[in-house]
Amino acid sequence: MNHIEKALSRARELRAIRGGEAPANSTTMTVEGITPEYTQIAVIPAAGRDSPTKLVANRPWHPASDVYRLLRIQVLQRLSRSDKTTLAVTSARSGEGKTLTAINLALSIAMDVNQTVLLVDLNFRSPGIHQEFQFDPKAGLNDYLSGKANLNDCLVNPDIPRLLLLPARGHATNSAELLTSPRMTALARDLKQRHRNRLIIYDTPPLLSSGDTLGFLPNVDTALFVIRDRVTTRSDIQRSAELLSDHHVIGTMVNAVS
Ligand SMILES: Nc1ncnc2c1ncn2[C@@H]1O[C@H](COP(=O)(O)OP(=O)(O)O)[C@@H](O)[C@H]1O
Ligand SMILES: [Mg+2]
Repeated sequence: MNHIEKALSRARELRAIRGGEAPANSTTMTVEGITPEYTQIAVIPAAGRDSPTKLVANRPWHPASDVYRLLRIQVLQRLSRSDKTTLAVTSARSGEGKTLTAINLALSIAMDVNQTVLLVDLNFRSPGIHQEFQFDPKAGLNDYLSGKANLNDCLVNPDIPRLLLLPARGHATNSAELLTSPRMTALARDLKQRHRNRLIIYDTPPLLSSGDTLGFLPNVDTALFVIRDRVTTRSDIQRSAELLSDHHVIGTMVNAVS
């Protein structure tokens, strides 16, 4: 049994004990907080968002926020232990909860006053972060990579302390090329080095439907693998584990929809 399968069975045990959804693995880093410079960055007022949103991790009274706090602690501890600051959230197929997990993990980490987070949408074929935050990006990371926009035109402050978004826009057909481009590699390196205490979470495309994510993974320190409970098949998990075998995987999260 490889480590993803072990994590899966451990998560099932945990879920059985708690009777609810439970992330299997994952991780706190005690680092000094930094105040990002938001002066030139568009602000999307939180007050404009409809209330029935799946952004729950920044609402401490919401039952699901506990789950994301647990995930946050595990992810941060593991990152801290190995001195890593960039994390790709991925899964075998679409619809398994990568975007929801990436967003709520980012929100939960941003709730920690010592921690700032940049959440990046790498799913250029079907970007989802702006949809959950309910705004229409004027420019996206794919525009920056194509030389059509400046980075500051793409960054968005969602009016949530310590969180910054780098959304994608439209439906790019050349996403594999953009994700493996020298410009993407240089940006990933620059984003990581510019604020060394900031965590960067990348929401990625599905691992198995294209080479997009695999091509990008060398640009991140580690990956969090999401499995949708009762949906992700064993063979997809095995195939994903093979593809991820050359990369550092921080843990596996089982996403159970109640
Ligand atoms: N644990 C969950 N509880 C409720 N809805 C969920 C859960 N996980 C995913 N979803 C919903 O399922 C759909 C697919 O999730 P998403 O995060 O977009 O998947 P992916 O990014 O892997 O394609 C979205 O509508 C999302 O809100
Ligand atoms: Mg997604």
